[in-house]
Amino acid sequence: MSIVEALDASMPGVSPGIYDEKDFRAISEIAHAEAGIVLPKGKAMLVYSRISPLVRDSGCATFASYIIRIREDATERQKTICALTTNHTFFYREAHHFEHFASEVRPGFVDRLKRGGKVRLWSAGSSSGEETWSLLMTFLGPDRAEGLDIAKRDLRLLASDIATHALTKAREATYRAEDLKPVPDALRRNWTSVSGDDAKIAPELQQLARFRSLNLLGDWPMKGEFDVIFCRNVMIYFDNPTKERLVARFAEKLSPGGWLYIGHSERVTGPALDLLSTQGPTIYRKRSA
Ligand SMILES: C[S@@+](CC[C@H](N)C(=O)[O-])C[C@H]1O[C@@H](n2cnc3c(N)ncnc32)[C@H](O)[C@@H]1O
Repeated sequence: MSIVEALDASMPGVSPGIYDEKDFRAISEIAHAEAGIVLPKGKAMLVYSRISPLVRDSGCATFASYIIRIREDATERQKTICALTTNHTFFYREAHHFEHFASEVRPGFVDRLKRGGKVRLWSAGSSSGEETWSLLMTFLGPDRAEGLDIAKRDLRLLASDIATHALTKAREATYRAEDLKPVPDALRRNWTSVSGDDAKIAPELQQLARFRSLNLLGDWPMKGEFDVIFCRNVMIYFDNPTKERLVARFAEKLSPGGWLYIGHSERVTGPALDLLSTQGPTIYRKRSA
């Protein structure tokens, strides 16, 4: 069955004159070229439902004319890419990463900060901030007095994503209190305040985080190295060559001995393996020399 037939069968309101297989292919090519996102044929309906409001708002009568628009208009193209991203995330996702960080990585960094050194973290593909705050809560830790002391030191976290709507939510730093349930009690008590159904991230955490719009496939304006990079459940949307190029860039951007955490279904392959050693499932460390 072609996509057009599938559209007709499953969504009677979609006319082949408005959206067809050629349009789906064109949008897939743009998403891949611009953001590395691979959209297999099975996503044809998802593309239709995510993009048709933009087609309508733009005043274009068909997807074909909207595609001409986005080829020429970078701002509209950015909106299309944002609409095609999947931003699903939650607090303390893949808890074993935070447990590993707390027991194996954090103590050395806390020492370094107390000796006057600096620590730089990057949540690459942070979506709406749940990963960012989970990492910072883990860093400041269960001892509130120690956490407040750490927060005054030279610790910074960059949280980046291509989806600006997700970053807006991240900056608001307010979630439903029930969303925080996966976070260990002591961390939740120390670093959030609950009011009614809402939980607000503590100001001490907020002042450590910078949220930036960044396409991981584009240039990275950050000058320094990172001690820890979390890039989880982002590369699943990319093809192999794109993944390999990206992890090689992450490996370059890590400080010697720095840590890379990736999503549970992802693996590092390719040239990055010359620079990284495996430390556990989906946890890698940059070799020191
Ligand atoms: C499923 S979320 C993962 C969020 C979080 N890291 C986690 O594991 O819960 C994937 C995020 O990657 C972002 N993303 C996809 N392609 C990107 C790209 N080329 N550059 C930057 N971010 C991208 C999406 O906008 C989305 O917010």
